[in-house]
Amino acid sequence: MIDRYAVVGYPIEHSQSPMIHKSFARLTGEKLCYDLLQAKPTCFENAVREFAASGGKGLNITLPHKEAAFKLANNLGPEAQKAKAVNTLSILSPTEIRGDNTDGIGLLRDLTENHGLRLKGKSVLILGAGGAARGIIPPLMEANIGELALANRTIERAHNLAEIFSATNKISVYSFKNLHEIQPYDVVINATSAGIKGENFDFPSNFISPDTFCYDLSYSLTQTPFVTWAYENGASNIAQGWGMLIEQAAESFWIWRGIRPDTRTLLKQTPTR
Ligand code: ATR
Repeated sequence: MIDRYAVVGYPIEHSQSPMIHKSFARLTGEKLCYDLLQAKPTCFENAVREFAASGGKGLNITLPHKEAAFKLANNLGPEAQKAKAVNTLSILSPTEIRGDNTDGIGLLRDLTENHGLRLKGKSVLILGAGGAARGIIPPLMEANIGELALANRTIERAHNLAEIFSATNKISVYSFKNLHEIQPYDVVINATSAGIKGENFDFPSNFISPDTFCYDLSYSLTQTPFVTWAYENGASNIAQGWGMLIEQAAESFWIWRGIRPDTRTLLKQTPTR
């Protein structure tokens, strides 16, 4: 029987993961199938267990299930332990489900290898304090950035997130209401879900300068609202999360299949970067 994989989320129709993994399978000559699996939060655990019981080999996990996947896995990789979130499940046996997190490595590869950004010593501001923000904090810290700040609409959530990492690093925290008070950062990363929910960005722009690298973790076949906002507010180094999506998928593929696909072909086909 052909090995089965899927991406599970809610909603899930927008996911490009099947296209990416099918391309990787073609490129590497691996035989597998990869589907979309929609599961509401209340059905997530059942959906994973049914997939495992029916012989499925692995799942990518997307919104809003990354923390639930972390709780469900009974064998966790080091990156998943640090992020307390899982984006890759491997069904090792009916009773052993391994959880990994490849988002961090995907982000770092995209920023440093695909965009040539040197992160060491840079000041980084993350907009958002949900699961996506949490997943990228450990890899950014390991890249020896100089300063990290979090800004969130709900400031308590940003404080809670900063607290998780307070033993090792000091993270400044801002409410969106105070964004007009802060100076430009070297790198600004949008980790809010405002874009994918179709909501516009209505932020002051003083925290970016023409030299700021603006990166949107969200991706779209057209320009994302954050990318539009960054252009309109004078940034010139701007990218959206296609590259990260492709790189994190390549890492998941490697975990599952033991082969690292060459991402360059897909990166060249990326619509807006
Ligand atoms: P994810 O796993 O994508 O991070 P999440 O945990 O639901 O999803 O977090 C969503 C993030 O987007 C949060 O930081 C949220 O802000 P709140 O904590 O205040 O809810 C942020 N967000 C969602 N919609 C937003 C909007 N319209 N404007 C600004 N921030 C928004």
